[in-house]
Amino acid sequence: MTTNRPKTFSGVKPSGGLHLGNYLGAIKRWVDDQDRYDNVFCIVDLHAITVPQESAALRQQTREVAAFYLAAGLDPSRTTVFVQSHVSAHAELGWILNCVTPMGWLERMTQFKDKAAKEGDNRERISAGLFDYPILMAADILLYDANFVPVGDDQKQHVELTRDIAERVNRLHGGGRDILVVPQPLIADTGARIMGLADPTRKMSKSEDMPGQAIGIFDDPGDIRRAIMRATTDSDRTIAFDPNRPGVNNLLTIYQVLSGRSRDALEGQFAGKGYGDLKKEVATAVLDTLVPIQERCKALLAGPDLDEILRDGADRARQVANRTLDRVATAMGLR
Ligand code: TYM
Repeated sequence: MTTNRPKTFSGVKPSGGLHLGNYLGAIKRWVDDQDRYDNVFCIVDLHAITVPQESAALRQQTREVAAFYLAAGLDPSRTTVFVQSHVSAHAELGWILNCVTPMGWLERMTQFKDKAAKEGDNRERISAGLFDYPILMAADILLYDANFVPVGDDQKQHVELTRDIAERVNRLHGGGRDILVVPQPLIADTGARIMGLADPTRKMSKSEDMPGQAIGIFDDPGDIRRAIMRATTDSDRTIAFDPNRPGVNNLLTIYQVLSGRSRDALEGQFAGKGYGDLKKEVATAVLDTLVPIQERCKALLAGPDLDEILRDGADRARQVANRTLDRVATAMGLR
């Protein structure tokens, strides 16, 4: 399925549970732009195990993320969908890139610094894999010659590292030509950083241990509505996009991405109305989107098609990935 369209690659970790931020910042955009690119989307289970996972839960969440991709609208006849660990070239290129990447580049990654800081001085609890995580991500992207990597704002630094690694491989081993494509992050103007509902100064994330902070994609509709109705706002009465008022700004942003309407139109719609009206509209928009997807997910998880689609996706991915791996391995004297 090769076309002349630019190539995209992206993925989601099957740990902690999918949340609305994953959908609005990444997966919805993959679906919306599906016809503009040649797409490869992955469920990155090898990234999930950088922190301890219970095996049955990991297996279940991997299938859930895959079902969600399809239920949200990715079409496996046009888009390759597969599980990272089913294609061994990811781990192999990851190792090779380990040997090309300076430690100092990894030490600058803010996501690792934040995660490590949560463990305090207890270095025994941080795996080498967590430190090395961005290199595996670089391998994911580079194996498919991706031109673009559609992600939320928090992954930008990792895609920039991927660019640095690709350029270094080309310089050190290309013998005057490019063996790896240097990718660009594709980050939306709206929705690339959805904030938590309870504490809108922090990014929405399932690992945050705060009730009402994240909307889980598979949460019960009643719980979703309640979390939105209880979202933290402020004492100002007007409804307007304003980064200094993170609660109302976030609710409007969620509504903007889901409705596809302009900021001016939304501010007009809510002129003279209260937070209760805004929250009701946001809850309805979120549920109108998520409930039908939840239904399709249930059917996919119960039926036989999902595993077949993932097997087929891995077969297609493997062919492309092995070619790139060979190219790099040959250039480095490993073939
Ligand atoms: P992950 O699994 O943490 O998140 C998946 C995608 O969701 C986006 N995202 C958000 N977008 C908006 N608002 C939020 N609050 C929010 N939270 C998460 C993320 O930016 C991401 O696009 N390292 C990656 C997975 C990965 C990957 C890759 C991505 C592995 N290999 C190769 C792209 C290309 C990660 O942990 O994403």
